[in-house]
Amino acid sequence: MSFILEVKNISKEFPGVKALDNINLRIKQNEVHAIVGENGAGKSTFIKILCGVYPFGTYNGEIYLEGEKKKFFSPKDAEEEGISVVHQELSLFEEMTVSENIFIDFNLVNKAFINWDFLNKQALKWLKTVGLEHINPTTKVKDLGVGEKQLLEIAKALIQNPKILILDEPTSSLSVKETEVLFNIIKELKNKGLTFIYISHKLEEVFKLADTISVFRDGHLIETNNKEAYERKKVINLMVGREISQMYPKRLVKPKDNVVFEAKNFNVYNKFGRKVVDNVSINLRENEILGLFGLIGAGRSELVNSIYGSYKGKYVGEVYFKGEKIKINSPIDCIKHGIALLTEERKLYGTIPTMSVKDNISLLYLNQRKNKFFVDKYEELKEVSKLVEQLKIKTSNLEESITTLSGGNQQKVLLARNIMVLPEIIIIDEPTRGIDVGAKAEIYSLMNKLTQEGISFIMVSSELPEIIGISDRILVMHEGKITAEFDNINKNISQEEIMHYATGGN
Ligand SMILES: Nc1ncnc2c1ncn2[C@@H]1O[C@H](COP(=O)(O)OP(=O)(O)OP(=O)(O)O)[C@@H](O)[C@H]1O
Ligand SMILES: [Mg+2]
Repeated sequence: MSFILEVKNISKEFPGVKALDNINLRIKQNEVHAIVGENGAGKSTFIKILCGVYPFGTYNGEIYLEGEKKKFFSPKDAEEEGISVVHQELSLFEEMTVSENIFIDFNLVNKAFINWDFLNKQALKWLKTVGLEHINPTTKVKDLGVGEKQLLEIAKALIQNPKILILDEPTSSLSVKETEVLFNIIKELKNKGLTFIYISHKLEEVFKLADTISVFRDGHLIETNNKEAYERKKVINLMVGREISQMYPKRLVKPKDNVVFEAKNFNVYNKFGRKVVDNVSINLRENEILGLFGLIGAGRSELVNSIYGSYKGKYVGEVYFKGEKIKINSPIDCIKHGIALLTEERKLYGTIPTMSVKDNISLLYLNQRKNKFFVDKYEELKEVSKLVEQLKIKTSNLEESITTLSGGNQQKVLLARNIMVLPEIIIIDEPTRGIDVGAKAEIYSLMNKLTQEGISFIMVSSELPEIIGISDRILVMHEGKITAEFDNINKNISQEEIMHYATGGN
């Protein structure tokens, strides 16, 4: 058995946190090695050490690549040795074209003489490797969908011709179809001899792809073994260190009959003038969790962002709150009426990197105050602390920058921010994206409790188990239209049935 990569005694500390504690791990040549673990377990930190983001000297321990000891002082060093990585948070330049993004890492000597025709053709070749051949290389990245951006990042990593490709939560923003494309790419590249380190919270994926599974918890490597040695339940137990008896809670309240919220006749056009939502009306009852399912491109996010007043394209439609028509020109109007939206694109519209954990949480709360000059600092801190505890947000210090939190914990901060303003209606787009199983169960149980307190939810999700697991009612969208509605009080709708309508069946 030959090992392509071996690490010995890797430890890494941040102020107040031991992110990694003496990790010893060997990666076999040509395997797919999955790393799983709860939010904040240390997975991304580990990866950042392997690929030079945390340079030699900022951690303890040793890295051996093909038997040779290595010191990476930058990501470039690691790339040159054959280690490429696609990080959890995307790092593309939104204002630049697809082509420019793909070739940005290359030293384009004498930029005045760049042959863009040639490069665009080359770019297209790379786009093809990740199933993006329909994209024009001169498109600006900001005009791509989240899933497309993710696949573009992968193309960009492949161009380095790596020996080891590290993927940190690669499918968290991919549709079912895009995920399939990615899996085929991984299999193909594996056949060609590439080795993968694959981080994911989606255990189905891990079981489908991985040869070996390593479980991290609280900065420790708990166990490494062949996939065959595990079953799902065992992995979950190792991850969270306890039994999760029930992923989806039994609903504490039944939805009432009265409608609290209505969006009527919504028509939405994207930047290119194409109709993406076609005359859609939805209503929401008190205490209800309404699931909105659809594949990428179905128009779900466009619809909810238009309702919220934050969509970038053109839209028309009417919004009724408790029977009264309300005017919404911007998210501020929504928040005033007690309607909150949790966006799906965390990095772009979500957390504010220059602010602390606490300020990120209390942002909306402070914004909503009538008298912005008088803030009860004690009250604010008390509320924030309560939420941090309730959502089990893992942070060593509330005053620290939000960027010090792991990806999943940043997502929880966004949830806390929206709960803090005590909305009556929460629209939540992909609530558990990138969140581990333990935290997922906690978020579902929190939603359950909040409905008991009178809050109603519209939940956009691409995960069928989640849609079926907690929605009282399910709407299915396909190509901008609602194609089916299911009463789901008894939770007996099948995934196949929903998928049928999501793919255009009738
Ligand atoms: N730059 C940083 N400064 C301070 N603390 C950090 C920093 N980066 C990570 N941490 C802390 O180190 C721990 C491990 O974080 P890491 O991002 O590696 O977790 P993760 O396993 O990738 O989690 P997730 O699944 O949520 O992405 C967490 O407690 C996190 O708060
Ligand atoms: Mg991470």
